[in-house]
Amino acid sequence: MKKGRIFSGMQPSGKFHLGNYLGALENWVRLQHDYECFFCIVDWHALTSSYEDTRRLPEHIHDMALDWLSGGLDPEKNVIFVQSHVKEHAELHLLLSMITPLSWLERVPTYKDKLQQLGAQGKEINTYGFLGYPELMTADIILYKADTVPVGEDQLPHLELCREIVRRFNHLYGEVFPEPQAKLSQAPLLPGIDGRKMSKSYGNEIPFAASPEDLRARVRLMVTDPQRVKKTDPGNPDVCTVHTFHKIFSRDELDEIVMSCRNAAIGCVDCKKRLAERMVSALADIHVRRAELEANPGRVREILAYGAERARQVAAATMEEVRQVMHL
Ligand code: ADP
Ligand code: NA
Repeated sequence: MKKGRIFSGMQPSGKFHLGNYLGALENWVRLQHDYECFFCIVDWHALTSSYEDTRRLPEHIHDMALDWLSGGLDPEKNVIFVQSHVKEHAELHLLLSMITPLSWLERVPTYKDKLQQLGAQGKEINTYGFLGYPELMTADIILYKADTVPVGEDQLPHLELCREIVRRFNHLYGEVFPEPQAKLSQAPLLPGIDGRKMSKSYGNEIPFAASPEDLRARVRLMVTDPQRVKKTDPGNPDVCTVHTFHKIFSRDELDEIVMSCRNAAIGCVDCKKRLAERMVSALADIHVRRAELEANPGRVREILAYGAERARQVAAATMEEVRQVMHL
């Protein structure tokens, strides 16, 4: 017996990084055993803040499928698909937009934050799509009648809005949709090589697809305890990014590494070498799977077509019901 049905999506930005893997995808890989999961590459969402140049979108979608599959998502266990392949997302989004007061969308904190961020960069986005982002996200989730949505803390307001829209729909037309519950992610934020949150917008990321050579090169650039100048200086692991990564990748030798740093038995260069080798071996299976899939792009297209077909069956049934209760 499955514990419930999950919907979750990610934007195909072409820059999937280790933070995305450890903070989100790894959790999905665990959830796929206990839940019936719909994992969606949300390409329409990628247009809400970046619509000028869409030429590389197909490549980014393909890359995201490679990231997910090599990371361990099983295309039989889960429904893995591309949002724009299932047009019902657009129909439901349209209908929901008829019943959602503008003020509900305008008060979403991430909307205001992002407007401010963009404003500071001299950019202005005043499209409906940008404002309507959580509206489309609501359609994505409830189209599959998902009851569980894995989210980070920052996305909780979106889910609250989704639940409000569901209540309004059910009140107006009848109980069609369950109110989805948030499943808060436990993963702490992974820092990038400069010590700030790893993010594609900071350029501090370690790409998930990085080759062993690239991994080693990125680790060599990581910031360590700034007070430690010479190899003979004692280091402070609490302020060292390499240590944060050792906590994840070198758990079984962590005590020894911490001690060797504090009493200067190991220098930062060697400490980084050890980390890089641990990361290379932890990600080795993923690299092998990725290489296999890269050699067979037709297989990836097949998997996405198969996923879209399965998603469409569920989506079509939901829309039948929606049209019926709305007399459409
Ligand atoms: P970015 O911050 O690089 O723009 P996204 O916002 O596209 O990444 O995030 C996609 C998913 O990856 C989300 O679930 C988010 O919580 C997770 N995530 C992003 N960056 C990190 C990070 N540094 N550590 C942990 N999880 C992260
Ligand atoms: Na983000």
